[in-house]
Amino acid sequence: MSTKKILVVSAHPEPRSLNGALTSFAIEHLRAAGHEVRVSDLYAMKWKSTVDADDVPDHAGDGPLDVLAAHEHATLAGRLTSDVAAEQEKLRWSDAVVLQFPMWWFSFPAILKGWVDRVFTNAFAHGPAVPPPYTEGAALGGRRALLSVTIGGRASAFTDRGVHGALADLLFPIQHGVLWFTGMAPLEPFAVYGTVDLPADEYAAARREYARRLDGLFTDEPVPFRSLVGDYDRDMRLLPGAEAPGTTGLDLHRRP
Ligand SMILES: Cc1cc2nc3c(=O)[nH]c(=O)nc-3n(C[C@H](O)[C@H](O)[C@H](O)COP(=O)(O)O)c2cc1C
Repeated sequence: MSTKKILVVSAHPEPRSLNGALTSFAIEHLRAAGHEVRVSDLYAMKWKSTVDADDVPDHAGDGPLDVLAAHEHATLAGRLTSDVAAEQEKLRWSDAVVLQFPMWWFSFPAILKGWVDRVFTNAFAHGPAVPPPYTEGAALGGRRALLSVTIGGRASAFTDRGVHGALADLLFPIQHGVLWFTGMAPLEPFAVYGTVDLPADEYAAARREYARRLDGLFTDEPVPFRSLVGDYDRDMRLLPGAEAPGTTGLDLHRRP
């Protein structure tokens, strides 16, 4: 396999946790396969997770803060803060991004959401200044993305009839709203369930499966999300009859 550049973003406060172990495992496994790996360990970096006026040094303190406009201006003028600019440089450098996190309240931890909020700025990841969203040509186009999520609950509770809803539906805002929106090619997520008290044999099996998924980072089929070009009308609604009969909910946005 040819050498690729992979950014691993990890969101857990404790290196001796399951997430810490999976992060280390991914880094070692990818490097052993000959890839270049860079890491954003958000807690270790003391990542600032909220967007505010300090992010846009040119903002006049007496005027209202329009975050979208201020992000666009700062991005185009090269006036973002150094921590945000460094993460954008890592994303530009990367061929693939791995996001490692525990499921917290059926979503990703606030620090990782704050990484997205602050780094995926207007004119960098989306917006009028960059190519259109939901297409392979969009801002971060060409990059593969893999969510690696640890989940306290059992797998059956995250299926279509499971009490929490299907995992694909819970992760849709990240997979589709963040990754696919910005042109990345998200793979099916890698999930470890029952993590509150994970037996050693299940941890060993999870590592084997994670290794298989990391090996497939550049060869596995991405989730077949639809392109905005061709599948939707001018009001961004799926064209009638585009879906296989009986398809409902968020599955509508996957090609049959
Ligand atoms: C604040 C918080 C929120 C959590 N929310 C969920 C949840 O919504 N669904 C779930 O199945 N588990 C939930 N859990 C359990 C975590 O997913 C579990 O502790 C984690 O996957 C274990 O990995 P770790 O040892 O690396 O922390 C939550 C845990 C915490 C601390």
